[in-house]
Amino acid sequence: MRARKKKHGAERIAACAELLIESPETLFENPNAPFDRERPIHVEIGCGKGSFACALAAAHPEINLFALERVSDVACLALEKAERTKEGRPDNLRFIIGDAAALPSCFPPHSVDCIYLNFSDPWPKSGHAKRRLTHRIFLEKYQTVLKKGGVLRFKTDNAGLFDFSLEQFAEMGLATRDLTRDLHHSPLAENNIMTEYEKNFSEKGFPIHAVTVEF
Ligand SMILES: C[S@@+](CC[C@H](N)C(=O)[O-])C[C@H]1O[C@@H](n2cnc3c(N)ncnc32)[C@H](O)[C@@H]1O
Repeated sequence: MRARKKKHGAERIAACAELLIESPETLFENPNAPFDRERPIHVEIGCGKGSFACALAAAHPEINLFALERVSDVACLALEKAERTKEGRPDNLRFIIGDAAALPSCFPPHSVDCIYLNFSDPWPKSGHAKRRLTHRIFLEKYQTVLKKGGVLRFKTDNAGLFDFSLEQFAEMGLATRDLTRDLHHSPLAENNIMTEYEKNFSEKGFPIHAVTVEF
């Protein structure tokens, strides 16, 4: 995702400070600490402009959700969206500006219940495979932080990335369920929360692939 440098980006992010975890490594002590009570920990990686994270947190008050985004100008838009939700600032959602590679230094081992990967960058060139967020390199990081029995929920419009990801899950010996290559015309559509990219791609007629991976 490309974004132009936001004017006054630092000030705009500072205005949403209550929703931002400035030092994610402090979560390692207790990832529930930023919230008013303990709940299962969910993490969205690459939250983009934040509409999925805001909708998920509102629909599931029983979870504590961290939305991670590595591009600060994009995270700024997500923070502002959360800050301005009509229900008021969500008490079960916090944002981290950072890279998925740092997850094991932010979350204690086996502390996370669920990770969401929505429309991750496909990195189609084979030389860039290690950058894909479903590459084994990243799956091993997710395995470190996810609880035994925790899950990864993955959605994409990109059939090539989906096939590659299924191979990686199989190579790691991870079981999959709820696999569909046309999410919006499957029984799973009922509880689906759409992302910005998902709305865009599905309006153009692209089928959405989805799978849940068990760790
Ligand atoms: C294609 S966009 C999808 C955005 C959103 N999930 C959606 O579905 O609308 C991918 C997002 O993931 C972020 N991203 C890519 N690699 C990342 C990484 N290693 N750690 C954190 N965020 C990442 C990008 O900056 C971008 O905002």
